[in-house]
Amino acid sequence: MQKYQIAVLKGDGIGPEIVEQAQRVLTAAAEKFGFFVDYVPALLGGCAIDETGTALPPETVTICKAADAVLLGAVGGPKWDTLPGNQRPETVGLLGIRRELELFANLRPAVIFEPLRHASPLRPEVIGDSLEILVVRELTGGIYFGDRGQKLINGTEAAYDTELYTVPEIERIARIGFEMAQKRKKRLCSVDKANILETSRLWRQTVKRIAEEYPDVELSHMYVDNCAMQMVRHPGQFDVIVTSNMFGDILSDEAAMISGSIGMLASASLGAKKPGLYEPVHGSAPDIAGKGIANPLATILSVAMMLKYSLNQPQAADAIEQAVNEALTQARTPDLAEEGLAIVNCEEMGALVCSFL
Ligand code: IPM
Ligand code: MG
Repeated sequence: MQKYQIAVLKGDGIGPEIVEQAQRVLTAAAEKFGFFVDYVPALLGGCAIDETGTALPPETVTICKAADAVLLGAVGGPKWDTLPGNQRPETVGLLGIRRELELFANLRPAVIFEPLRHASPLRPEVIGDSLEILVVRELTGGIYFGDRGQKLINGTEAAYDTELYTVPEIERIARIGFEMAQKRKKRLCSVDKANILETSRLWRQTVKRIAEEYPDVELSHMYVDNCAMQMVRHPGQFDVIVTSNMFGDILSDEAAMISGSIGMLASASLGAKKPGLYEPVHGSAPDIAGKGIANPLATILSVAMMLKYSLNQPQAADAIEQAVNEALTQARTPDLAEEGLAIVNCEEMGALVCSFL
């Protein structure tokens, strides 16, 4: 029987609760589709600081590199918010593991599940028949990883962050954008701020050149401010969006909300080699941590992406997505409460999804 090793980084806040439900669904899918999963836990983020003194212990990197895929909850929380930037769970832990595993491509599909049509803040006529936007976010470059610091300018405190992109970095993420578009509606929108930023002008020029390799894909360019507006004005115009690290961070939260709740958006982070990392787009939600009411569906849907992109079990992936759809017709976690539907907690939602598998 095929056997996979999954590194499990539960992280902080609601991380442990949601990951537990995602593991439960993955184990159920494995039983049903005849494969085996082995979980290897490791520390990342604030919990890792508390136990080992650093948000990214070397052992965690070793465990992740040896795995077939990595499942991650969320990191960070108020307890570690006052640490200097170069010790924070987000910078050292999350950005650290993305860099160590060279996960340059982050796929964030914003989908409206049919039962959630009314949960979207957009009017039905704006949404149209269906909505499926894939945000392809560059994940290991740009302003997130550029030179930054603090200094005194004429005796005044100042701080700076810089954005740098090399041509190969833009080329490889552009190719992912085109390849994703080829498998979908063949429309790629490259988002930048080329009217201002030097990095964006290089970005646009490079994406245009790579487009010659993909004549079947229709390429357009859009400034990021306009894109933010178009996304809520006429979201149906988008198929695949490819963009830089920071613009992708911002636009993917916007795209997530269109689908009803940020608690629904899954993500896959991929590199040129194994393993991929799968995590919800939302954060550690310290305000509801430990209450058991978090929505585990984004993490469960991240497991579906893992089955598709890392474990080559597309049928199991489809089955999980289908089960999530069914579960949403019966019950909701509080973030998606709707009249006439039962309100369930995190664990009950996990159980419900398993029951439909
Ligand atoms: C995300 C998150 C992270 C990011 C934070 C927690 C550092 O917002 O994955 O979108 O900005 O990449
Ligand atoms: Mg974000």
